[in-house]
Amino acid sequence: MQAENGNKIKTRLFRVSEENFDAVLDEAAEIIRRGGTVAFPTETVYGLGANGLDPAAVRKIFEAKERPPGNPLSLLVHSGDDAGKVAKNIPEKAFRLMDAFWPGPLTIVLEKKEIVPEITSGNLPSIGLRMPDHRIPLELVKRAGTPLAAPSANLSGKPSPSLAAHVLADLTGRIDAVIDGGGTVIGLESTVVDMTVEPPVVLRPGAVSIAELERVIGRVRPSYDEAVAGTGETVPEKQAGQKFSHYTPDTQVVLVEGDRKRVSEKIGTLLENSRHEGKKVGLLLSNETAGFFASEGLSADEYFLLGSREEPEEAARRLFEGLRALDAKSLDVILADGSFSPSGLGAALLNRLREAASVRYAV
Ligand code: TXA
Ligand code: MG
Repeated sequence: MQAENGNKIKTRLFRVSEENFDAVLDEAAEIIRRGGTVAFPTETVYGLGANGLDPAAVRKIFEAKERPPGNPLSLLVHSGDDAGKVAKNIPEKAFRLMDAFWPGPLTIVLEKKEIVPEITSGNLPSIGLRMPDHRIPLELVKRAGTPLAAPSANLSGKPSPSLAAHVLADLTGRIDAVIDGGGTVIGLESTVVDMTVEPPVVLRPGAVSIAELERVIGRVRPSYDEAVAGTGETVPEKQAGQKFSHYTPDTQVVLVEGDRKRVSEKIGTLLENSRHEGKKVGLLLSNETAGFFASEGLSADEYFLLGSREEPEEAARRLFEGLRALDAKSLDVILADGSFSPSGLGAALLNRLREAASVRYAV
């Protein structure tokens, strides 16, 4: 088993500060240059980096994460100019996106050059590129002198890490080092837009919204499930590169979306029914829905509050922490509140909640 091999690695933990920044980054870059693996924060989630142009180094990422072969990785670059070293036939619209959103939470899928190994791109002719808005990965790419293959630094099937502690929980003994740079600011993975097709297709929603993309390059098409459960809209076919994206916690997640008052009432009913069946129930709630529960005298076994439904940015930052925390409590079911405002990061937040849920209600 790969995992057993992986578990023998000694994982070093670097706590980065103003004083040791240079020394830590030099050491981490040296690990990358030698073909090793280093996890680090970005503005979205923690990434697990290795030399993206070295197939042996990239293989270590797949082994450490137990990521299914064929699931494409994206590359972190240091600048728009770097993009030209690994991608070809870059459309003019893609340059406009780089100008508008890089550094930032936007992964741009482009035709790949030969130099990008098959294992990195999951045998696809394309590659996702992102210039992160975070000093640590930018310096690491620069000092290592190579684009970094950098998927989220979690075990496959677990939520992406928003804290170094999440990375350590999943990957200790499997990777060479973790740079602890504190919690990630956004908390959800980047928007992924495929620029190899016209009109461009948004493969994964993130902090850069469809409306923001359309202001810069005109029409784009979403390819993920935007539909609210029960509206009769169908889930779009997953495209190449998306077929592995599904993440579901071990505990069953039931999501309730729709009218805010009815969401609270429906979760209340589901809670009472589950408890009558003797189930242990966890609640993933907005503050407002939690307030309604308190006023109704309803209680569950475990709670995680994501913040106000009017502040999806805060809820997004806390989502993966909440799912991890509740998933670790040996519950029978997690009832999740889908009443968050869909503005700003709300659309991406709801997308991740839908991905995590195995049952969805629209009320
Ligand atoms: O915010 C982020 O993007 C984080 C940080 C660490 O940079 N990274 C991340 O990587 O979420 P990962 O591998 O977990 O997700 C990358 C997504 C996947 O859904 C992958 O399938 C898609 O991008 N992707 C990568 N290359 C692709 C390609 N050539 N065609 C289609 N999708 C691609
Ligand atoms: Mg991931």
